Amino acid sequence: MIKKNISLKKYNSFNIDVNAKEFVEVNSKDELIEIANRTKDKNVLYLGGGSNILFTRDFDGIVIHLNIKGVQFEKTNSDETVVQANAGENWNNFVEFCIKNNLGGIENLSMIPGNVGSAPVQNIGAYGVELKDVFLTCEVFNKNDFSIKTYNLEDCKFDYRNSIFKENKNLIILSVRLKLKNKNHKINSSYGGINDELKKLKISKPTIKDISNVVCSIRKRKLPDPKKIGNAGSFFKNPVVKKDKLEWIKKYFNDVPSYKLDDKNYKIPAAWLIESAGLKGKELDGFGIHKTQPLVLVNYGGAKGDDIYKLSLSIKEIIFKIFKIELETEVNII
Ligand code: EPU
Repeated sequence: MIKKNISLKKYNSFNIDVNAKEFVEVNSKDELIEIANRTKDKNVLYLGGGSNILFTRDFDGIVIHLNIKGVQFEKTNSDETVVQANAGENWNNFVEFCIKNNLGGIENLSMIPGNVGSAPVQNIGAYGVELKDVFLTCEVFNKNDFSIKTYNLEDCKFDYRNSIFKENKNLIILSVRLKLKNKNHKINSSYGGINDELKKLKISKPTIKDISNVVCSIRKRKLPDPKKIGNAGSFFKNPVVKKDKLEWIKKYFNDVPSYKLDDKNYKIPAAWLIESAGLKGKELDGFGIHKTQPLVLVNYGGAKGDDIYKLSLSIKEIIFKIFKIELETEVNII
């Protein structure tokens, strides 16, 4: 059923109050194909969990809200279980479900907002793990030719916060298959904060549930809860710079943190750049830069998407002026 003039406020984690001219929810593949056929000539936006999007204006077209639910275990061998989840499942509920069933591999990705179908788009990652580490295949609907195809790991071209789905907006993810461990799972606690927290709790042999608990408590401490404060997680990507650029920054800021990617390239935390520019915690009229994780822009209530977008442009300009680094936006701007 196509509805008219619907507020998208509850469909985006930034809580931006814009209207869609038309709105429809699809609950199955068949419904999706039918709606896609009926809306061929319209301006269409496919919306999942809405947790990586910033609406800067009303949407003059039809929003198709992907709400296809369902999770199933496909096959289990001695060490591994293949799990298939449909796009409309909430990501964190899915993670919790896997942990309850003692399946390891995505516990570090606990509490990431959004739906299963959005996870491959930006190859979600946190605390030393990325989706691609457990990814097997996904089912993809092409809104141009209405075909449904299976994409494997290689087809998806996963990279840091990137994939083929970011480049080709015609591709809509319908379901995802992951390869999780039911035995001999190697816990990944390499990310600094996790080990510190485990030590504090005196846990020497962490279970997947322990890791998930620790990740949740770090996230709760550092990141604003989108249910309370509108946000879309990291607004920018962590930039990669050449060694000479890093050396140049070190001349002025000798405490610049960096992660070596290879002999030539280093990743610098965008949060550090924003904090060093003096912008951490800056609050404007109902929106701003978060006070404990400056990589996150926040809507304290009633902000316009365009205000937040303009703030992001100002941040980019300031970072470029100081560090000669161009920050890349991670969130989709509509
Ligand atoms: N930092 C500061 N000031 C701050 C916060 C951080 O200088 O206020 C610096 C510190 O040097 C710190 C470093 O930034 O060591 C890294 O901070 P953090 O561990 O919080 O991670 P991040 O690189 O800022 C990335 C992801 C997050 C993910 C965390 C944890 C990106 C763009 N963001 O942030 O993902 O939760 O690592 O793995 O890669 C998201 O994508 O929405 C997201 C929240």
